[in-house]
Amino acid sequence: MKSDRLILRPWQLPADKESFFQIYQNSEVTYFLPRIRQLATDIESLNAHFSVRLPTIRNQGNGSDWWAMIDRKNNQIIGSIILQNLPDNHGYPTPDSEIGWHLRRDYWGQGYITEAAKVILEYGLITLQLPIIYAVVNPDNYRSIRVTERLGMQSMGLTNKYYDTEALLFSIEA
Ligand SMILES: CC(C)(COP(=O)(O)OP(=O)(O)OC[C@H]1O[C@@H](n2cnc3c(N)ncnc32)[C@H](O)[C@@H]1OP(=O)(O)O)[C@@H](O)C(=O)NCCC(=O)NCCS
Repeated sequence: MKSDRLILRPWQLPADKESFFQIYQNSEVTYFLPRIRQLATDIESLNAHFSVRLPTIRNQGNGSDWWAMIDRKNNQIIGSIILQNLPDNHGYPTPDSEIGWHLRRDYWGQGYITEAAKVILEYGLITLQLPIIYAVVNPDNYRSIRVTERLGMQSMGLTNKYYDTEALLFSIEA
């Protein structure tokens, strides 16, 4: 998939493990991602975990994936854009789809996530014909909340249904 400045293609681990680690080794990037922060202390732990997890998501066969965002001007991988089933409070997948975003720290503030998310929302709502896509955001993660606003997602208040935590829920319908 493509946008003006980006190519989106599924992450391939271990081939992409250096780029993957480069994104997640940054403590500002993982500030609101405690599970990934624990894994991202070394490249091999991160790679071992996601080399199992990403194929599991992909092999569900429902179009879910984690895509690497590639900057078309220099071919660098600069982030992840995600469409997957939200996990319940025990980590089991629910039928609800979420969009997620993680951007390399040096690319913040340039609109790349909003650009990638528009492509993935169109893919989810139109190609996959999902009726609704959610975003689950820590209430203190104002940058992520602003992304949901730029995408025209509706605020649905607090939820305790996912990730074993209280978070803000946003949604967008087809
Ligand atoms: C959340 C996160 C992805 C947001 O990144 P971001 O760079 O702020 O978001 P965008 O790519 O949409 O860029 C928007 C910014 O670029 C600016 N911008 C520049 N050109 C733009 C364009 N063409 N389109 C939209 N925005 C543009 C906007 O004004 C905005 O800047 P501001 O924050 O100073 O107001 C990033 O902070 C991140 O990776 N955080 C860590 C991971 C995380 O917490 N993920 C969310 C879990 S729920």
